[in-house]
Amino acid sequence: MRSFFDYESDDRIKSAKELLQDFIDEHQSYLDNSPLNSSTLLKSYSKLLKQYGNDRGGALFFPYLSAGISSDAKVRLADGSIKYDMINGIGVHPGHHLPLFFEATWRSLFVDTIMQGNLQQHYRSAFLANEFCKLSHMDHCFLTSSGAMATENALKMMFQKHAPAQRLLAFEHCFIGRTLGLASITDKALYRDGLPTTLTVDYVPFYNPKDPKSLEKSISTIQRYLTRYPNQYAGMCIELIQGEGGYNVGTKEYFNSLIQVLKDNGLCVFIDEIQTFGRTESLFAHHYFELSGKIDILTVGKLSQVCATMFKTNYKPNPGLVSQTFTSSTTAIEAALLLLEELSTKPYYGPNGIIAQIHRHFVKHFKRLQKKYKSTISGPFGHGGMIACTLFDGDRDKTMQFLKTLYKNGVIAFVCGQSPTRIRMIPPIMVCSNDVIDSVMDIFEQSLQESL
Ligand SMILES: Cc1ncc(COP(=O)(O)O)c(C=O)c1O
Repeated sequence: MRSFFDYESDDRIKSAKELLQDFIDEHQSYLDNSPLNSSTLLKSYSKLLKQYGNDRGGALFFPYLSAGISSDAKVRLADGSIKYDMINGIGVHPGHHLPLFFEATWRSLFVDTIMQGNLQQHYRSAFLANEFCKLSHMDHCFLTSSGAMATENALKMMFQKHAPAQRLLAFEHCFIGRTLGLASITDKALYRDGLPTTLTVDYVPFYNPKDPKSLEKSISTIQRYLTRYPNQYAGMCIELIQGEGGYNVGTKEYFNSLIQVLKDNGLCVFIDEIQTFGRTESLFAHHYFELSGKIDILTVGKLSQVCATMFKTNYKPNPGLVSQTFTSSTTAIEAALLLLEELSTKPYYGPNGIIAQIHRHFVKHFKRLQKKYKSTISGPFGHGGMIACTLFDGDRDKTMQFLKTLYKNGVIAFVCGQSPTRIRMIPPIMVCSNDVIDSVMDIFEQSLQESL
């Protein structure tokens, strides 16, 4: 069921839609045929950047302000330049100006409000929550507008069920968000600098592929804590692939054994898939790691457009525990529905799916560069639509400088990890063809040569 009223069959609507699509196509073909980096409005652009930096209380990391119509993997900035976007606002966009999102924006024109919310539920939210439940095999789904909010809601559900337990387990170098609560869990000193500690967290070493005793060490750390603080733990927060932490990937065996220990001790298993959603060889990372049925709470965000906390019935919150004014925007809800349909029905997943192919093509390039530039480059790291490499032994300053050179030359990427600091890409999965990857990696190599 698309709508309670049939706007699609009205001839005026049909021709308006065609005219709009024509206009966008025309502008996109201009973009497709333009060279990268033709900056034209430097003076006014610099002024705007400076003003914005001042207004928001801090300069932007990249001089990036997008404008107008972009196309697939290429984004047009307000200075007229065109770049390949391999970071996508950290993994939010499956591509720029995709027909899928044109459709979502179009559909939202026929909805009465811009935002949906707790007391402003549109019937499409009901469809979306149900889709998330069906696809994840979780019992319930609470929609929300940011990853941090989804995760806060997850923690509330966990603590309420396990009250009065107040401690948490989490992996070293994890990232789970930046609210006052989440900054106590996210394992990065800079992000909690000057903040009060709001949660008591004990850290467990993450899987280390180079250490044959990695699983043993993680489990013995958990057991040590459980013995030291009996009955005080509510659960463990788990990223199956550490995003901000450096694109570190666990294994099926590692997670299954570790989660068994949590289950044996009656702890809540909370999986944060905010960065990994849609980017592993399964739609949900916990399906890829064969953890179906073993987890209690799950969060998704970023690529899903609308964020969500999914949970088993025994974690159902008491009335009043979770709520908020905004669920998300009407367009985001339409986009999420279309995106879930596309991802769950087209050949994105599996060992030979689009996601795996994207990864393999990047790996091919990184291996080629490794042969040529030897120890300057190591890796690649990550999985599926999350790929990283270490340059210059992970030296932070040199890596940051490389990132800026890469940006100047026409590719937007970012860093992850602390020591080593890595370069990461989180590409637009719906438009990341081999040709796009080839062009991006040519620029990557050119930038590497400039940085040597
Ligand atoms: C694993 C993970 N959890 C939670 C968050 C927080 O999401 P948001 O930035 O939408 O609040 C992020 C954001 O990068 C993330 O990567």
